[in-house]
Amino acid sequence: MTASFGSYQNEIYLQGLVDQIPAFTTDAAVLEGVARGRMEPGPFGYVSGGAGSGATLRANREAFDRWRIVPRMLTGATERDLSVTVLGTAMPAPVLLAPVGVQAIMHPDGELATARAAGALGVPMVLSTAASHTFEDVAEANGDGPRWFQLYWPNDNDVTISLLQRAKAAGFTALVVTVDTWTLAWRPADLDRSFLPFIRGIGTAIPFSDPAFLAGLEKSPSEDPQAAVLRWIPMFTGTDKRWDQLPFLREHWDGPILLKGIQHVDDARLALDAGMDGIVVSNHGGRQVDGAIGSLDALPEIVAAVGDRLTVLFDSGIRTGADILKALAIGAQAVLIGRPYAYGLALDGEAGVRHAVRSILADFDLTLGLSGHRTPAELSPNTLRRA
Ligand code: FNR
Repeated sequence: MTASFGSYQNEIYLQGLVDQIPAFTTDAAVLEGVARGRMEPGPFGYVSGGAGSGATLRANREAFDRWRIVPRMLTGATERDLSVTVLGTAMPAPVLLAPVGVQAIMHPDGELATARAAGALGVPMVLSTAASHTFEDVAEANGDGPRWFQLYWPNDNDVTISLLQRAKAAGFTALVVTVDTWTLAWRPADLDRSFLPFIRGIGTAIPFSDPAFLAGLEKSPSEDPQAAVLRWIPMFTGTDKRWDQLPFLREHWDGPILLKGIQHVDDARLALDAGMDGIVVSNHGGRQVDGAIGSLDALPEIVAAVGDRLTVLFDSGIRTGADILKALAIGAQAVLIGRPYAYGLALDGEAGVRHAVRSILADFDLTLGLSGHRTPAELSPNTLRRA
C-alpha cells in the first residue's frame, strides 16, 4: 500500500493558479489560534485545555524541541513507502486518529465526519467510548476503513461485555483501554465555564444505544435523559481499576489489546507481564496530570525496556511531520494525533479533518524524504541528536 501524501503540496500550489487557498492553515502548530477565533468558548476550552496550570501541555511540546533531526543526503529517497502494519492493521502511514470524545461539540456531524475522512484516506481511527454517535453508525460512515475502539472501562461487567461485543460486530479490530482517565482531572478551562459535555448528555451515544445499559433504566434516555446521564457518569468514571482485573478484558476480547496512558517504565513492564499486546505512551495530551513529564521524554526509557516485546505507540503533543519522525526514530511504531484533527473537524467538518490529516501526513512524508529516508523502518535513534 503506497500513497503519496507529499503530493498534497502540489495540489495546494496548483489551486493557487485559480486563486484558491486552503480553507484553513496547513500549519498544525498555529491551528489552535485559528480555532480559538472561530469556535464557541466552551468547546474551544474543552479541546484546547489541559490539567491544572497547563504545565504538562507545555512539557509535551518542549520535549520535541530537545531533539533535532540530522538529515542524510543522496540516499535516493524520491520514492517512499510510508505504509506499516501495526497489530494486524495495515495503514498507509504510521499515524492513527486518537480517540477524541464528544465530537458533536466540535461539529454537528462529529465522529461521522471523522469516520468518513479517515475511511477515505485509509487512516485508522480510534473511536472513543465517549462518542456522540453509535458504533454502528460510525462503522457505516467509515466503510472499509480500519478502525479500533477505545474503552473507558465501565464498572458494570454486563455493560462492558456488551460494548466489546458491539465493537467487534461493527468491525473495530483492536481494543485501546485508556487507563489514565478513571476520573477527570482538575481542568480550569472547563471548570471556569461549568462546561462538561457528559452532564448535558453529549458523548453518551454508545451507552444510550446499548441493550445492557438500557436494561438498567426504568425509562429510556429519550424519556428521562437526566436519569440516564446519572446512571452512566458513575459507571464510566470515578473508580480506578487494578492490574489484576485485566484478564477480564482478555476473556471478552479476542483481538489485540493496548493500554493507553502509560508514562512510567514500570507500568510498561507491568503491561508486558499482564500479557497486553501494546501500549500507547501518552499523557492524554496533558489533560490529566498537571506537572507531568512530557510524553516524548518518557518514550526512550520505555522503548529500551519493552520495545522488543510490546508494540509501543505514542501520542501527546504531535503537531508537525518532524514530531512524527522524532517519535518514530526514538522507537514508537506509530503515533496518534489528537487536537489537530479535532480543530479541523471544528473548522470544516469532514473536509476539515481531511485537510488537517493530509497536511500533517504531507509534512511527515516530505520531512522523511528530505532527511534521507524511504520508509519509517529506516528511522532509528541515530537519526536524531539531543539539541
Ligand atoms: C481526548 N483524548 C481522549 N482519549 C481517550 O482515550 N478517550 C477520549 O474520549 C478522549 N477524548 C479527548 C477529547 C479531547 C477534546 C482531546 C483533545 C483529547 C486524548 C487523546 O486521545 C490523545 O491522547 C491526545 O489528544 C493526544 O495529544 P494531542 O495530539 O492532542 O496533543
